[in-house]
Amino acid sequence: MSMSHTIVIFGASGDLTRRKLIPALYQLYCKERLPDETRIVGFSRTPLTHDEFRSKLRVETQKRAQDAFEEGKWEAFAQSLYYQPGSLEQTEDVARLCRCIEQLEQNAPATRVYYLATLPQLYETAVRHLGELKMADETDGPRRLVVEKPFGHDLHSARDLNAIIHEVFEERQVFRIDHYLGKETVQNLLVLRFANSIFEPLWNRHYVDHVQITVAESLDVGSRGAYYDRSGVLRDMFQNHLLQLLMITAMEAPVRFEADLVRDEKVKVLQALRNITPGEIAEATLRGQYRGYRKHEGVDPESQTETFAIVRCWIDNWRWKDVPFYLRSGKAMSCRSTQIVIQFRRVPHMLFQPEQGRPLDANRLVVQIQPAEGIQLHFLTKVPDAGMQLRLTDLDFRFDREFPSGMPDAYQRLLLDVLHGDASLFARSDEVELSWAFIDPILTAWRSPLAPPLYIYERGCWGPRESHPWLADQGREWFDVCPVLH
Ligand code: BG6
Repeated sequence: MSMSHTIVIFGASGDLTRRKLIPALYQLYCKERLPDETRIVGFSRTPLTHDEFRSKLRVETQKRAQDAFEEGKWEAFAQSLYYQPGSLEQTEDVARLCRCIEQLEQNAPATRVYYLATLPQLYETAVRHLGELKMADETDGPRRLVVEKPFGHDLHSARDLNAIIHEVFEERQVFRIDHYLGKETVQNLLVLRFANSIFEPLWNRHYVDHVQITVAESLDVGSRGAYYDRSGVLRDMFQNHLLQLLMITAMEAPVRFEADLVRDEKVKVLQALRNITPGEIAEATLRGQYRGYRKHEGVDPESQTETFAIVRCWIDNWRWKDVPFYLRSGKAMSCRSTQIVIQFRRVPHMLFQPEQGRPLDANRLVVQIQPAEGIQLHFLTKVPDAGMQLRLTDLDFRFDREFPSGMPDAYQRLLLDVLHGDASLFARSDEVELSWAFIDPILTAWRSPLAPPLYIYERGCWGPRESHPWLADQGREWFDVCPVLH
């Protein structure tokens, strides 16, 4: 007999639930991918009835789904949405929630997912209450915990949080979200590397000059000033998303596509990451803040928080020794573009003359994570009827041309994986701690007299002007090309 499923969302009146979780669950329901008998129970302090909860969620889901929204389907889906008001800080409230869930499950065995979509300050309390009320006990079916980012704000707090979680849940029950891993194009990077034979022989220090991983955002911090000012780009984007992209780009092939085998390989990349010492900080990193950032509500008018950063990483292993990985991310930049550029070495001996003194470009593989998802391979071509003049041209693969049905939101895949108990696309405790262990010394050095200057950059450009000579001094150039959307 198949078990029913219960997804319990803590922080159910928040943004994440409304904007991401429920629309994703609704889409899965429409595609008939949600297991039969899946119910969703929202819990938060706002007093709401089941119906009020449902109609609040309907508005945003409809907005997201647009033409794909079907009234009838929503009505049917909404029947499985329930709401229980209460405070996570009150044991009695959580106990009431527990009774409500048991009633909905009719005291039968069920798979239960506890989703922490609350303020991060409440994670610890939530986990403790789940422990006290024996809600992690698996006698009546699997119990899983989903933890949203941020997972701690430094190594120390991440370790503490892991320790608290492990008092109640075993590691195999814990799913730490990094929504970048739910993106189709990030998973496709594994396919590109490990399901094709032609790239892997070149994917190493013998052929690769360097790698650029850029997550550029055109949006600024908007109304999230209070959160962002305490966090900054390193905590917000590097510790999680950029390091995940780095791991997937640099890892060895796992023996099988299984959660622990995949994560073992990712962890080895972090173990090989060379720590940046205080003495190197000014040379290995670059910091920026966009003009006007200090005027946002919630931001200190003298804030030194970075909204842009570059971190040069070295991976000390046989595959990558001496190949720099440039990680770069920022807000209020030229365009929204997440891309991984594998810059290959130049040919050892060039027969043709460079154009106007410009050294000839070399091959480049651009993995466009978003938007305009695709892959481009750049190579030199002879310009017809122009002597031996060369130009960099490309082979261009676009997902939307090949698969017009579009890209699902990352949360669909991740939620489904949690329901099925597959943790391959979630961060393991050691992964999170090693990521912080790399980021922490940078954060500390940036608050010391050894810190590089905080450059102010104009909105709508590729970060501070200084980032160009910084890379040029290393004999390289940024690939600053906005994706073509059509
Ligand atoms: C979040 C960050 O984790 O990722 C945000 O907190 C950022 O600041 C967002 O905007 C980017 O995600 P995506 O999927 O739009 O690239």
